[in-house]
Order: sequence, then structure tokens, then C-alpha cells
Amino acid sequence: MSVAITFVSADGVDVRTVQAAPGTSLLEIAQNAGQPLEGTCEGQMACSTCHVIVDPADFARLPRASEEEDDLLDLAAHVTRTSRLACQIMLDDALGSLKVRMPAEARDMQGR
Ligand code: FES
Repeated sequence: MSVAITFVSADGVDVRTVQAAPGTSLLEIAQNAGQPLEGTCEGQMACSTCHVIVDPADFARLPRASEEEDDLLDLAAHVTRTSRLACQIMLDDALGSLKVRMPAEARDMQGR
């Protein structure tokens, strides 16, 4: 089984779906798929550069964010009610599919 992950660019123009193996983090999949997420702290919950905006329908199906994650998200730019840290989302079979959008700021970090 695999999980179908759809990545939407910050401007909504670029949409791509990849198949991901359960047991990997969303950050890992995003980076392998060339998405602009820095993930500077490599999942140590110390940076928030792995911030993604989860599709509202999918957000409700994910396990809740920890308090630590919520605190870090408070510091991230362009946070929405369905924002999460990609390094904290572990993919599992039960999820089936997941759709996330890149926050606007992630594009800027790609270097202008
Ligand atoms: Fe740093 Fe997720 S990679 S908080």
C-alpha cells in the first residue's frame, strides 16, 4: 500500500501527486519530490521551515498536532487554521491520500 500525496504550489499553479511509502514523514516525501521545504532542523521541531497548509478535509483526518508543534507554528509566516509541520506528519496506510499546499513564504526561500 502507498499513500497518494498531492503537492500544490503556493500560487496553486503547480499540482503534482506522488506515491509515498507508509512510515515516512511528509517532509521526506516533499523533499524527494522537489518541493520547496527547507526542513532545516531535520524534524527536530526547532525551525518551522517545513510548514505546509493541509487541505481542510484532510486536516481533520490527521492526528492532532502536539502542543510543541502548535507553538512552533505560531512563529511561522502565513499560518492558517490547517497549517502543520511536515516533519511531524507520519504517513500511514489509513490515511490513503493527503493534499497539502506550500505556504507563500517557502517560494521566497528558494532564492530570489
Ligand atoms: Fe524543523 Fe520540521 S524540519 S520543524
